Amino acid sequence: MQNQVLILDFGSQYTQLIARRVRELNIYSEIKPYNKIPSNLSDFSAVILSGSPSSVRSAEAPTPDLSNIKGKMPLLGVCYGAQFLAHYFGGEVAPSATREYGRAHLHSLQQNEPFLEGISDGSQVWMSHSDTIKQLPENATLLASTEDVANAAYKLDGEVTYGIQFHPEVYHTTEGTALLKNFLVNIAGLKQDWTPDAFVDTTVAELKEKIGDESVILGLSGGVDSSVAAMLLHKAIGQQLHCIFVNNGLLRKNEFSDVLEQYKGMGLNVKGVDASARFLEALKGEDDPETKRKIIGRVFIEVFDDEAHKVENATWLAQGTIYPDRIESVSASGGPSAVIKSHHNVGGLPDYMKLKVVEPLHLLFKDEVRRVGRSLEMPESILGRHPFPGPGLGIRILGDITAEKVSMLQEVDAIFINGLKDFGLYDKVWQAGAMLLPVNSVGVMGDERTYEKCVALRAVESTDGMTADWVNLPYEFLQKISNTIINKVKGVNRVVYDISSKPPATIEWE
Ligand code: XMP
Repeated sequence: MQNQVLILDFGSQYTQLIARRVRELNIYSEIKPYNKIPSNLSDFSAVILSGSPSSVRSAEAPTPDLSNIKGKMPLLGVCYGAQFLAHYFGGEVAPSATREYGRAHLHSLQQNEPFLEGISDGSQVWMSHSDTIKQLPENATLLASTEDVANAAYKLDGEVTYGIQFHPEVYHTTEGTALLKNFLVNIAGLKQDWTPDAFVDTTVAELKEKIGDESVILGLSGGVDSSVAAMLLHKAIGQQLHCIFVNNGLLRKNEFSDVLEQYKGMGLNVKGVDASARFLEALKGEDDPETKRKIIGRVFIEVFDDEAHKVENATWLAQGTIYPDRIESVSASGGPSAVIKSHHNVGGLPDYMKLKVVEPLHLLFKDEVRRVGRSLEMPESILGRHPFPGPGLGIRILGDITAEKVSMLQEVDAIFINGLKDFGLYDKVWQAGAMLLPVNSVGVMGDERTYEKCVALRAVESTDGMTADWVNLPYEFLQKISNTIINKVKGVNRVVYDISSKPPATIEWE
Protein backbone atom coordinates (compact mmCIF):
# COMPACT_ATOMS: atom_id res chain seq x y z
CA MET A 1 0.00 0.00 0.00
CA GLN A 2 1.48 3.37 -0.99
CA ASN A 3 0.23 6.83 -0.12
CA GLN A 4 0.58 6.24 3.61
CA VAL A 5 2.34 7.98 6.46
CA LEU A 6 4.86 6.39 8.80
CA ILE A 7 4.79 7.73 12.36
CA LEU A 8 7.85 6.85 14.38
CA ASP A 9 6.99 6.65 18.05
CA PHE A 10 9.44 7.90 20.66
CA GLY A 11 7.06 7.20 23.54
CA SER A 12 4.93 10.36 23.57
CA GLN A 13 1.50 10.14 25.19
CA TYR A 14 0.17 11.84 22.03
CA THR A 15 1.51 9.49 19.34
CA GLN A 16 -1.86 7.81 18.77
CA LEU A 17 -3.39 11.25 18.35
CA ILE A 18 -0.98 12.01 15.49
CA ALA A 19 -2.19 8.88 13.71
CA ARG A 20 -5.80 9.84 14.26
CA ARG A 21 -5.35 13.42 13.02
CA VAL A 22 -3.67 12.12 9.87
CA ARG A 23 -6.46 9.60 9.31
CA GLU A 24 -9.06 12.32 9.83
CA LEU A 25 -7.53 13.88 6.74
CA ASN A 26 -8.43 10.59 4.98
CA ILE A 27 -4.78 9.61 4.75
CA TYR A 28 -3.75 6.25 6.14
CA SER A 29 -1.02 6.24 8.82
CA GLU A 30 0.84 3.53 10.73
CA ILE A 31 2.69 3.87 14.04
CA LYS A 32 5.97 1.99 14.48
CA PRO A 33 8.41 2.08 17.39
CA TYR A 34 11.42 4.30 16.55
CA ASN A 35 13.73 1.29 16.74
CA LYS A 36 11.70 -0.81 14.31
CA ILE A 37 11.76 1.25 11.14
CA PRO A 38 10.14 -0.85 8.38
CA SER A 39 12.62 -2.12 5.83
CA ASN A 40 10.32 -1.34 2.93
CA LEU A 41 10.04 2.44 3.11
CA SER A 42 8.68 2.64 -0.43
CA ASP A 43 5.24 1.90 1.10
CA PHE A 44 5.34 5.33 2.73
CA SER A 45 5.16 8.80 1.24
CA ALA A 46 6.02 10.80 4.38
CA VAL A 47 7.39 10.29 7.89
CA ILE A 48 6.46 12.02 11.16
CA LEU A 49 8.68 11.80 14.25
CA SER A 50 6.63 11.90 17.47
CA GLY A 51 7.33 13.63 20.76
CA SER A 52 8.91 11.84 23.70
CA PRO A 53 9.31 12.15 27.47
CA SER A 54 13.09 11.83 26.89
CA SER A 55 15.63 14.59 26.37
CA VAL A 56 17.91 14.35 23.31
CA ARG A 57 20.73 15.32 25.65
CA SER A 58 20.31 12.18 27.76
CA ALA A 59 22.43 9.09 27.11
CA GLU A 60 19.32 6.86 27.04
CA ALA A 61 17.45 9.01 24.54
CA PRO A 62 15.98 7.25 21.49
CA THR A 63 18.39 7.64 18.56
CA PRO A 64 16.96 6.09 15.41
CA ASP A 65 19.04 5.74 12.26
CA LEU A 66 17.30 8.08 9.82
CA SER A 67 19.79 7.64 6.99
CA ASN A 68 17.16 6.09 4.71
CA ILE A 69 14.62 8.77 5.55
CA LYS A 70 16.09 12.23 6.13
CA GLY A 71 16.67 14.09 2.88
CA LYS A 72 15.15 11.19 0.94
CA MET A 73 11.47 11.63 1.78
CA PRO A 74 9.25 14.31 3.35
CA LEU A 75 9.92 14.39 7.09
CA LEU A 76 8.24 16.27 9.94
CA GLY A 77 9.62 16.27 13.48
CA VAL A 78 7.19 17.09 16.29
CA CYS A 79 8.52 18.31 19.66
CA TYR A 80 11.20 15.69 20.51
CA GLY A 81 11.27 14.87 16.78
CA ALA A 82 12.12 18.51 15.98
CA GLN A 83 14.74 18.60 18.74
CA PHE A 84 16.24 15.35 17.52
CA LEU A 85 16.66 16.74 14.00
CA ALA A 86 18.18 19.96 15.34
CA HIS A 87 20.52 18.23 17.81
CA TYR A 88 21.94 15.66 15.39
CA PHE A 89 22.18 17.84 12.31
CA GLY A 90 24.13 20.87 13.41
CA GLY A 91 21.91 22.77 15.86
CA GLU A 92 21.85 22.95 19.64
CA VAL A 93 19.25 21.82 22.17
CA ALA A 94 19.39 23.07 25.76
CA PRO A 95 17.16 23.00 28.86
CA SER A 96 14.42 25.66 28.70
CA ALA A 97 14.90 28.69 30.88
CA THR A 98 11.15 28.92 31.48
CA ARG A 99 8.43 26.30 31.75
CA GLU A 100 6.90 25.61 28.36
CA TYR A 101 3.69 23.75 28.94
CA GLY A 102 0.28 24.56 27.55
CA ARG A 103 -0.95 27.50 25.51
CA ALA A 104 1.30 29.62 23.27
CA HIS A 105 0.77 31.66 20.11
CA LEU A 106 2.63 31.66 16.82
CA HIS A 107 4.04 34.90 15.49
CA SER A 108 6.66 36.11 12.98
CA LEU A 109 5.37 33.62 10.43
CA GLN A 110 7.58 33.18 7.37
CA GLN A 111 5.78 34.63 4.35
CA ASN A 112 4.99 32.51 1.27
CA GLU A 113 5.89 29.29 3.06
CA PRO A 114 3.63 26.40 1.93
CA PHE A 115 3.88 24.75 5.36
CA LEU A 116 2.19 27.79 6.92
CA GLU A 117 -0.39 28.43 4.21
CA GLY A 118 -3.62 29.68 5.76
CA ILE A 119 -2.17 29.67 9.29
CA SER A 120 -2.97 32.90 11.11
CA ASP A 121 -0.60 35.15 13.00
CA GLY A 122 -1.39 34.56 16.69
CA SER A 123 -2.64 31.00 16.08
CA GLN A 124 -2.88 29.04 19.34
CA VAL A 125 -0.53 26.07 19.72
CA TRP A 126 0.05 23.64 22.59
CA MET A 127 3.51 23.16 24.07
CA SER A 128 4.75 20.36 26.31
CA HIS A 129 8.52 20.26 26.62
CA SER A 130 11.36 21.05 28.99
CA ASP A 131 14.18 21.30 26.42
CA THR A 132 14.30 23.96 23.76
CA ILE A 133 16.09 24.39 20.42
CA LYS A 134 18.62 27.11 21.22
CA GLN A 135 20.32 27.13 17.84
CA LEU A 136 18.98 25.86 14.52
CA PRO A 137 21.18 23.89 12.12
CA GLU A 138 23.06 26.02 9.58
CA ASN A 139 20.91 25.05 6.63
CA ALA A 140 17.68 25.85 8.53
CA THR A 141 15.17 28.61 7.89
CA LEU A 142 13.16 29.81 10.87
CA LEU A 143 9.42 29.65 10.07
CA ALA A 144 7.72 30.85 13.27
CA SER A 145 8.23 31.74 16.93
CA THR A 146 6.06 31.99 20.06
CA GLU A 147 6.25 34.24 23.14
CA ASP A 148 8.79 31.97 24.84
CA VAL A 149 10.14 29.80 22.05
CA ALA A 150 12.22 31.51 19.37
CA ASN A 151 12.60 28.39 17.22
CA ALA A 152 9.02 27.11 17.25
CA ALA A 153 8.99 25.98 13.60
CA TYR A 154 11.74 25.55 11.03
CA LYS A 155 12.63 23.83 7.80
CA LEU A 156 15.91 22.49 6.49
CA ASP A 157 16.85 23.91 3.11
CA GLY A 158 17.68 21.59 0.24
CA GLU A 159 15.42 18.82 1.56
CA VAL A 160 11.76 18.36 2.58
CA THR A 161 12.36 18.35 6.32
CA TYR A 162 10.33 20.37 8.85
CA GLY A 163 10.44 20.64 12.62
CA ILE A 164 7.86 22.06 15.04
CA GLN A 165 8.30 22.44 18.76
CA PHE A 166 4.56 22.36 19.53
CA HIS A 167 2.04 19.52 19.15
CA PRO A 168 -0.17 19.87 16.05
CA GLU A 169 -2.06 16.69 17.01
CA VAL A 170 -3.72 17.96 20.18
CA TYR A 171 -7.13 19.60 20.15
CA HIS A 172 -5.81 22.81 21.72
CA THR A 173 -3.53 23.52 18.76
CA THR A 174 -6.38 25.11 16.88
CA GLU A 175 -4.83 25.01 13.42
CA GLY A 176 -2.92 21.76 13.94
CA THR A 177 -4.91 19.77 11.39
CA ALA A 178 -4.40 22.53 8.80
CA LEU A 179 -0.63 22.37 9.42
CA LEU A 180 -0.60 18.60 9.01
CA LYS A 181 -2.61 18.96 5.83
CA ASN A 182 -0.16 21.56 4.49
CA PHE A 183 2.70 19.16 5.14
CA LEU A 184 1.08 15.95 3.94
CA VAL A 185 -1.06 17.12 1.05
CA ASN A 186 0.48 20.34 -0.27
CA ILE A 187 4.13 19.50 0.37
CA ALA A 188 4.42 15.68 0.43
CA GLY A 189 1.69 15.27 -2.22
CA LEU A 190 -0.33 12.56 -0.44
CA LYS A 191 -3.84 11.93 -1.71
CA GLN A 192 -6.80 12.11 0.68
CA ASP A 193 -8.49 8.97 -0.50
CA TRP A 194 -8.55 6.77 2.62
CA THR A 195 -12.31 7.02 3.26
CA PRO A 196 -14.60 4.48 4.97
CA ASP A 197 -16.10 3.58 1.57
CA ALA A 198 -12.63 3.02 0.10
CA PHE A 199 -11.67 0.97 3.16
CA VAL A 200 -14.76 -1.22 2.71
CA ASP A 201 -14.03 -1.76 -1.00
CA THR A 202 -10.37 -2.68 -0.55
CA THR A 203 -10.98 -4.81 2.56
CA VAL A 204 -13.81 -6.75 0.93
CA ALA A 205 -11.63 -7.42 -2.13
CA GLU A 206 -8.72 -8.53 0.09
CA LEU A 207 -10.94 -10.81 2.17
CA LYS A 208 -12.38 -12.45 -0.96
CA GLU A 209 -8.92 -13.09 -2.29
CA LYS A 210 -7.54 -14.35 1.02
CA ILE A 211 -10.41 -16.68 1.97
CA GLY A 212 -11.42 -17.99 -1.44
CA ASP A 213 -14.04 -20.71 -1.03
CA GLU A 214 -13.11 -21.69 2.53
CA SER A 215 -15.35 -21.17 5.56
CA VAL A 216 -14.89 -18.73 8.42
CA ILE A 217 -16.29 -18.84 11.94
CA LEU A 218 -16.79 -15.73 14.03
CA GLY A 219 -18.02 -15.22 17.57
CA LEU A 220 -20.51 -12.37 17.71
CA SER A 221 -20.86 -10.57 21.02
CA GLY A 222 -23.50 -7.95 20.24
CA GLY A 223 -20.75 -5.31 20.38
CA VAL A 224 -19.60 -2.91 17.68
CA ASP A 225 -16.30 -4.54 16.72
CA SER A 226 -17.44 -8.12 16.18
CA SER A 227 -20.59 -6.88 14.38
CA VAL A 228 -18.69 -4.67 11.92
CA ALA A 229 -16.09 -7.41 11.34
CA ALA A 230 -18.96 -9.80 10.57
CA MET A 231 -20.61 -7.40 8.11
CA LEU A 232 -17.35 -6.86 6.22
CA LEU A 233 -16.85 -10.61 5.93
CA HIS A 234 -20.47 -11.10 5.00
CA LYS A 235 -20.05 -8.64 2.15
CA ALA A 236 -16.95 -10.52 1.01
CA ILE A 237 -17.96 -14.18 1.39
CA GLY A 238 -21.70 -14.22 2.22
CA GLN A 239 -22.89 -17.54 3.60
CA GLN A 240 -19.35 -18.93 3.93
CA LEU A 241 -19.26 -16.86 7.12
CA HIS A 242 -20.69 -18.77 10.08
CA CYS A 243 -21.40 -16.55 13.06
CA ILE A 244 -21.93 -17.94 16.52
CA PHE A 245 -23.68 -15.89 19.19
CA VAL A 246 -23.44 -17.51 22.61
CA ASN A 247 -25.89 -16.73 25.37
CA ASN A 248 -23.84 -17.15 28.54
CA GLY A 249 -26.89 -16.37 30.66
CA LEU A 250 -25.20 -13.16 31.76
CA LEU A 251 -26.43 -10.88 28.98
CA ARG A 252 -28.76 -7.93 29.43
CA LYS A 253 -32.52 -8.39 29.56
CA ASN A 254 -33.84 -9.75 26.21
CA GLU A 255 -30.44 -9.09 24.63
CA PHE A 256 -29.98 -12.60 23.25
CA SER A 257 -33.25 -12.68 21.33
CA ASP A 258 -33.24 -8.99 20.30
CA VAL A 259 -29.69 -8.94 18.99
CA LEU A 260 -30.06 -12.32 17.30
CA GLU A 261 -33.09 -11.03 15.40
CA GLN A 262 -31.18 -7.89 14.46
CA TYR A 263 -28.26 -9.93 13.09
CA LYS A 264 -30.59 -12.11 11.09
CA GLY A 265 -32.26 -8.97 9.73
CA MET A 266 -28.84 -7.84 8.49
CA GLY A 267 -28.58 -11.05 6.47
CA LEU A 268 -25.91 -12.68 8.63
CA ASN A 269 -25.62 -16.45 8.75
CA VAL A 270 -25.82 -16.61 12.54
CA LYS A 271 -26.52 -19.36 15.01
CA GLY A 272 -27.69 -18.49 18.50
CA VAL A 273 -26.50 -20.96 21.13
CA ASP A 274 -28.23 -20.76 24.48
CA ALA A 275 -25.69 -22.10 26.96
CA SER A 276 -27.05 -20.22 30.01
CA ALA A 277 -27.58 -23.34 32.06
CA ARG A 278 -24.05 -24.60 31.36
CA PHE A 279 -22.49 -21.31 32.49
CA LEU A 280 -24.66 -21.02 35.62
CA GLU A 281 -23.90 -24.59 36.59
CA ALA A 282 -20.15 -24.02 36.19
CA LEU A 283 -20.33 -20.82 38.25
CA LYS A 284 -22.38 -22.29 41.08
CA GLY A 285 -21.19 -21.22 44.53
CA GLU A 286 -18.13 -19.40 43.20
CA ASP A 287 -17.60 -15.91 44.59
CA ASP A 288 -14.01 -15.02 43.72
CA PRO A 289 -13.92 -12.42 40.88
CA GLU A 290 -10.90 -13.83 39.06
CA THR A 291 -12.14 -17.42 39.33
CA LYS A 292 -15.53 -16.34 37.99
CA ARG A 293 -13.86 -14.62 35.02
CA LYS A 294 -11.78 -17.72 34.34
CA ILE A 295 -14.79 -20.03 34.49
CA ILE A 296 -16.78 -17.81 32.12
CA GLY A 297 -13.81 -17.68 29.71
CA ARG A 298 -13.27 -21.43 29.85
CA VAL A 299 -16.91 -22.36 29.32
CA PHE A 300 -17.13 -19.86 26.45
CA ILE A 301 -14.24 -21.57 24.71
CA GLU A 302 -15.80 -25.01 25.26
CA VAL A 303 -19.15 -23.91 23.86
CA PHE A 304 -17.58 -22.03 20.95
CA ASP A 305 -15.31 -24.96 20.15
CA ASP A 306 -18.24 -27.41 20.15
CA GLU A 307 -20.14 -25.20 17.75
CA ALA A 308 -17.14 -24.49 15.54
CA HIS A 309 -16.65 -28.21 15.03
CA LYS A 310 -20.16 -28.47 13.65
CA VAL A 311 -19.23 -26.12 10.80
CA GLU A 312 -17.84 -28.18 7.95
CA ASN A 313 -14.56 -27.08 6.37
CA ALA A 314 -14.07 -24.17 8.74
CA THR A 315 -10.44 -23.15 8.30
CA TRP A 316 -10.58 -19.54 9.46
CA LEU A 317 -11.38 -17.83 12.74
CA ALA A 318 -12.36 -14.16 12.41
CA GLN A 319 -11.75 -11.74 15.29
CA GLY A 320 -12.77 -8.14 15.89
CA THR A 321 -9.30 -7.02 17.03
CA ILE A 322 -8.81 -3.28 16.43
CA TYR A 323 -5.71 -1.13 15.97
CA PRO A 324 -5.15 0.03 19.59
CA ASP A 325 -5.12 -3.64 20.64
CA ARG A 326 -1.99 -4.23 18.61
CA ILE A 327 0.05 -1.03 18.67
CA GLU A 328 3.39 -1.79 20.19
CA SER A 329 4.00 0.87 22.78
CA VAL A 330 7.33 2.47 23.60
CA SER A 331 8.00 2.80 27.32
CA ALA A 332 8.49 6.19 28.98
CA SER A 333 12.23 5.57 29.23
CA GLY A 334 12.35 5.30 25.45
CA GLY A 335 13.32 1.64 25.64
CA PRO A 336 11.41 -0.90 23.60
CA SER A 337 8.83 -2.41 25.93
CA ALA A 338 6.57 -4.02 23.34
CA VAL A 339 3.48 -4.16 25.51
CA ILE A 340 0.57 -5.35 23.40
CA LYS A 341 -2.84 -5.18 24.98
CA SER A 342 -4.60 -8.49 24.88
CA HIS A 343 -7.97 -8.47 23.28
CA HIS A 344 -10.56 -9.87 25.59
CA ASN A 345 -13.65 -10.54 23.54
CA VAL A 346 -13.30 -13.77 21.61
CA GLY A 347 -9.51 -13.47 21.81
CA GLY A 348 -7.31 -16.12 23.31
CA LEU A 349 -8.90 -19.15 21.69
CA PRO A 350 -6.66 -22.16 22.17
CA ASP A 351 -4.06 -23.21 19.59
CA TYR A 352 -5.60 -26.66 19.28
CA MET A 353 -8.40 -25.14 17.24
CA LYS A 354 -5.77 -24.89 14.50
CA LEU A 355 -7.56 -22.17 12.60
CA LYS A 356 -6.02 -19.41 10.55
CA VAL A 357 -6.89 -16.02 11.98
CA VAL A 358 -8.41 -13.15 10.00
CA GLU A 359 -8.85 -9.71 11.59
CA PRO A 360 -10.60 -7.33 9.17
CA LEU A 361 -10.49 -4.34 11.58
CA HIS A 362 -6.88 -4.60 12.67
CA LEU A 363 -6.03 -1.25 11.06
CA LEU A 364 -8.85 0.79 12.62
CA PHE A 365 -9.42 2.93 15.69
CA LYS A 366 -12.79 2.53 17.45
CA ASP A 367 -14.36 5.63 15.92
CA GLU A 368 -13.19 4.47 12.49
CA VAL A 369 -14.89 1.11 13.08
CA ARG A 370 -18.13 3.05 13.62
CA ARG A 371 -17.58 5.06 10.43
CA VAL A 372 -17.03 1.85 8.49
CA GLY A 373 -20.21 0.43 10.07
CA ARG A 374 -22.11 3.49 8.84
CA SER A 375 -20.67 3.05 5.39
CA LEU A 376 -22.02 -0.53 5.55
CA GLU A 377 -25.41 0.95 6.55
CA MET A 378 -25.53 -0.94 9.82
CA PRO A 379 -28.15 0.12 12.41
CA GLU A 380 -27.18 2.91 14.83
CA SER A 381 -28.49 0.76 17.68
CA ILE A 382 -25.50 -1.54 17.12
CA LEU A 383 -22.92 1.11 16.19
CA GLY A 384 -23.74 3.38 19.13
CA ARG A 385 -24.00 0.62 21.72
CA HIS A 386 -22.10 1.07 24.98
CA PRO A 387 -19.22 -1.36 25.57
CA PHE A 388 -20.32 -4.42 27.52
CA PRO A 389 -17.75 -6.80 29.02
CA GLY A 390 -17.42 -10.38 27.77
CA PRO A 391 -18.18 -11.84 31.24
CA GLY A 392 -21.34 -9.69 31.24
CA LEU A 393 -23.42 -9.42 34.38
CA GLY A 394 -21.21 -12.11 35.90
CA ILE A 395 -18.74 -9.42 36.98
CA ARG A 396 -21.52 -7.05 38.03
CA ILE A 397 -23.09 -9.49 40.48
CA LEU A 398 -20.66 -9.29 43.35
CA GLY A 399 -20.18 -12.65 45.02
CA ASP A 400 -21.77 -15.86 43.82
CA ILE A 401 -24.12 -15.95 40.86
CA THR A 402 -27.60 -17.45 40.81
CA ALA A 403 -30.35 -17.34 38.18
CA GLU A 404 -32.46 -15.26 40.57
CA LYS A 405 -29.73 -12.64 41.00
CA VAL A 406 -29.20 -12.50 37.24
CA SER A 407 -32.84 -11.76 36.56
CA MET A 408 -32.96 -9.20 39.39
CA LEU A 409 -29.97 -7.35 37.94
CA GLN A 410 -31.34 -7.62 34.39
CA GLU A 411 -34.47 -5.78 35.54
CA VAL A 412 -32.48 -3.07 37.31
CA ASP A 413 -30.12 -2.66 34.35
CA ALA A 414 -33.00 -2.39 31.88
CA ILE A 415 -34.68 0.36 33.91
CA PHE A 416 -31.38 2.27 34.11
CA ILE A 417 -30.40 1.88 30.44
CA ASN A 418 -33.90 2.54 29.06
CA GLY A 419 -34.10 5.55 31.38
CA LEU A 420 -30.86 6.93 29.94
CA LYS A 421 -32.33 6.53 26.46
CA ASP A 422 -35.65 8.16 27.44
CA PHE A 423 -33.86 11.13 28.98
CA GLY A 424 -31.61 11.54 25.90
CA LEU A 425 -28.55 10.71 28.02
CA TYR A 426 -27.49 7.37 26.52
CA ASP A 427 -25.28 8.82 23.78
CA LYS A 428 -23.67 11.28 26.20
CA VAL A 429 -22.41 8.44 28.39
CA TRP A 430 -19.55 6.17 27.32
CA GLN A 431 -20.67 3.18 29.36
CA ALA A 432 -23.30 2.52 32.00
CA GLY A 433 -24.51 -0.40 34.02
CA ALA A 434 -25.73 -1.60 37.40
CA MET A 435 -23.99 -3.72 40.03
CA LEU A 436 -25.78 -6.03 42.43
CA LEU A 437 -24.04 -5.78 45.79
CA PRO A 438 -23.74 -8.66 48.24
CA VAL A 439 -25.23 -6.58 51.03
CA ASN A 440 -28.65 -6.48 52.55
CA SER A 441 -29.81 -3.38 54.32
CA VAL A 442 -32.88 -2.42 56.30
CA GLY A 443 -35.68 -0.45 54.68
CA VAL A 444 -39.33 0.28 55.19
CA MET A 445 -42.07 -0.25 52.62
CA GLY A 446 -45.60 0.61 53.67
CA ASP A 447 -45.45 -0.19 57.36
CA GLU A 448 -43.27 -3.24 56.83
CA ARG A 449 -39.60 -3.63 57.62
CA THR A 450 -37.57 -4.89 54.64
CA TYR A 451 -34.10 -6.43 54.58
CA GLU A 452 -33.12 -6.49 50.93
CA LYS A 453 -30.40 -5.99 48.33
CA CYS A 454 -28.61 -2.81 47.35
CA VAL A 455 -27.70 -1.94 43.74
CA ALA A 456 -25.08 0.54 42.57
CA LEU A 457 -25.50 2.45 39.32
CA ARG A 458 -22.40 3.43 37.36
CA ALA A 459 -22.13 5.75 34.35
CA VAL A 460 -18.76 6.88 33.06
CA GLU A 461 -17.26 9.05 30.39
CA SER A 462 -14.08 7.84 28.73
CA THR A 463 -12.45 7.54 25.33
CA ASP A 464 -10.88 4.11 25.55
CA GLY A 465 -11.82 2.63 28.93
CA MET A 466 -8.23 3.06 30.17
CA THR A 467 -9.18 6.08 32.26
CA ALA A 468 -12.70 7.16 33.08
CA ASP A 469 -14.67 9.62 35.16
CA TRP A 470 -18.16 9.30 36.60
CA VAL A 471 -20.86 11.23 34.82
CA ASN A 472 -22.70 14.02 36.54
CA LEU A 473 -26.19 12.66 35.79
CA PRO A 474 -29.08 15.05 36.55
CA TYR A 475 -30.61 14.62 40.02
CA GLU A 476 -34.11 14.42 38.60
CA PHE A 477 -33.00 11.49 36.43
CA LEU A 478 -31.37 9.67 39.35
CA GLN A 479 -34.42 10.34 41.49
CA LYS A 480 -36.77 8.87 38.89
CA ILE A 481 -34.59 5.81 38.23
CA SER A 482 -34.03 5.06 41.89
CA ASN A 483 -37.75 5.26 42.54
CA THR A 484 -38.65 3.03 39.61
CA ILE A 485 -36.07 0.40 40.57
CA ILE A 486 -37.18 0.18 44.19
CA ASN A 487 -40.86 0.09 43.25
CA LYS A 488 -40.54 -2.41 40.43
CA VAL A 489 -37.70 -4.76 41.21
CA LYS A 490 -38.59 -7.17 43.94
CA GLY A 491 -35.77 -7.76 46.39
CA VAL A 492 -34.09 -4.34 45.99
CA ASN A 493 -34.69 -1.64 48.59
CA ARG A 494 -31.69 0.65 48.11
CA VAL A 495 -29.95 2.34 45.14
CA VAL A 496 -26.61 4.15 45.25
CA TYR A 497 -24.65 6.00 42.55
CA ASP A 498 -20.95 5.27 42.08
CA ILE A 499 -18.87 8.49 42.09
CA SER A 500 -15.41 6.93 41.70
CA SER A 501 -13.07 7.74 38.84
CA LYS A 502 -10.69 5.30 37.13
CA PRO A 503 -8.02 5.22 38.40
CA PRO A 504 -8.14 4.42 41.25
CA ALA A 505 -11.41 2.50 40.84
CA THR A 506 -12.09 0.41 37.72
CA ILE A 507 -15.22 0.64 35.59
CA GLU A 508 -16.45 -2.83 36.44
CA TRP A 509 -16.66 -3.71 40.12
CA GLU A 510 -15.03 -7.11 39.66
P1 XMP B 1 -12.28 -1.97 33.85
O1 XMP B 1 -13.24 -2.64 34.75
O2 XMP B 1 -10.98 -2.72 33.70
O3 XMP B 1 -12.96 -2.01 32.40
O4 XMP B 1 -12.06 -0.53 34.20
C1 XMP B 1 -12.47 -1.31 31.29
C2 XMP B 1 -13.35 -1.63 30.09
O5 XMP B 1 -13.17 -3.00 29.71
C3 XMP B 1 -14.39 -3.69 29.83
N1 XMP B 1 -14.07 -5.03 30.35
C4 XMP B 1 -14.09 -6.16 29.61
N2 XMP B 1 -14.41 -6.36 28.32
N3 XMP B 1 -13.99 -8.67 28.58
C5 XMP B 1 -14.40 -7.63 27.82
O6 XMP B 1 -14.75 -7.84 26.65
C6 XMP B 1 -13.62 -8.54 29.89
O7 XMP B 1 -13.25 -9.49 30.54
C7 XMP B 1 -13.68 -7.21 30.42
N4 XMP B 1 -13.42 -6.70 31.66
C8 XMP B 1 -13.66 -5.35 31.57
C9 XMP B 1 -15.24 -2.88 30.76
O8 XMP B 1 -16.63 -3.12 30.57
C10 XMP B 1 -14.83 -1.48 30.36
O9 XMP B 1 -15.46 -1.08 29.17
